[in-house]
Amino acid sequence: MPGIIETLRADDVTASWISYLDELGPPSFDVDLPEPNALPAVLRALDVPDEDFADLITMLPSAERDPDTWWLLTRATHSLVRHMGTVKGPPEFPKFPTAVSGTHRFFFVYVYLATLPYVQAYHRDRGIPAAIGRESLADLGRSMREYRLAHGAGGFNDAAWLMFHFRGLLYHLGRLQFERRRLGRRIAAAVAAAGLGGDTGDPALGIHIPALAGALAPEACDASFVDAAGFFARYFPDERYEIVVCDSWLLDPQLAEYLPATSNIIRFQRRFRAAVGPDPVDEWILRFVFGRADVDLDTVPQRTTLERAVASHLRAGRTWHGGLGWFVLPGRTPRASTDLQSS
Ligand SMILES: CC(C)(COP(=O)(O)OP(=O)(O)OC[C@H]1O[C@@H](n2cnc3c(N)ncnc32)[C@H](O)[C@@H]1OP(=O)(O)O)[C@@H](O)C(=O)NCCC(=O)NCCS
Repeated sequence: MPGIIETLRADDVTASWISYLDELGPPSFDVDLPEPNALPAVLRALDVPDEDFADLITMLPSAERDPDTWWLLTRATHSLVRHMGTVKGPPEFPKFPTAVSGTHRFFFVYVYLATLPYVQAYHRDRGIPAAIGRESLADLGRSMREYRLAHGAGGFNDAAWLMFHFRGLLYHLGRLQFERRRLGRRIAAAVAAAGLGGDTGDPALGIHIPALAGALAPEACDASFVDAAGFFARYFPDERYEIVVCDSWLLDPQLAEYLPATSNIIRFQRRFRAAVGPDPVDEWILRFVFGRADVDLDTVPQRTTLERAVASHLRAGRTWHGGLGWFVLPGRTPRASTDLQSS
């Protein structure tokens, strides 16, 4: 059987990632994984489901037993650590082709375990409270829980998503998560059209809504926005955050056809000014409502208003789009675009 590197080189998508890792070269720092007997405590701190501990211990890679996997682990970890804290990052971690054996299903979990000491050091250097750092990184375990719920078995398919957390870009503050990012062209144009100053490339906060964390109560969101304004001013004083952006299935205006105006989702939607109506992405809403995109619409659960809405909308031949929206972080007053021109 070909080794993992050979298999990844043979696939168009992963071949370019391997070329990047080749060019990146070896790191100048140590890449280590916890010893098997130290692993459970680390996994617990990251909120990894107990049911996955045994497999994670059994499959723990080692340089001696599997040099190919170790090479990949070392280079992937290097790509993260080299871009610690910088908004511009390395190429996204790819989804492995199906030809990669199941024993590599936790490969990227190990990459995050190897990166853990470096992101913790980054948090410490910035003075970020350990509890916020821990809760932010524990999204790794949440993602594995979501996988278990959807598939009934252990696995991990959020390798690219967790790159934000483990590069020091994303912080969990109350009900919401906030990602340090830059204003894209479309949002910058919408902000400018509203008469506010904002250029492509300006700092912005991307909002994410973690699953398995209860209802999206408006009061909890209000508190998160207040926390975010204080957190980023204190721990990232060199970056001025004024605009909050969200790109989510939750912002699809069609949801208002089905959900009452008092529902949390509609009240969340109403905070945002629309930038653009994205292309159809049904997979997105299916994943967040039914746990996975490959579902049979005739047999999916129909317990909640939203489950019924998502299925009947698609059965009627319509599509879901999501939405891309923005607003000004409460308490912040961006300069009007005319002020910018005269300054
Ligand atoms: C965002 C979230 C917390 C909103 O839940 P909420 O606060 O209950 O939302 P609402 O009050 O608007 O719910 C309205 C109805 O839809 C249902 N509903 C909401 N989200 C649902 C979901 N993900 N799956 C199934 N039903 C859902 C509610 O149960 C309620 O139905 P009911 O009136 O029949 O009881 C929830 O959808 C969730 O946990 N999503 C996963 C994370 C996510 O999607 N993040 C965004 C990624 S881009």
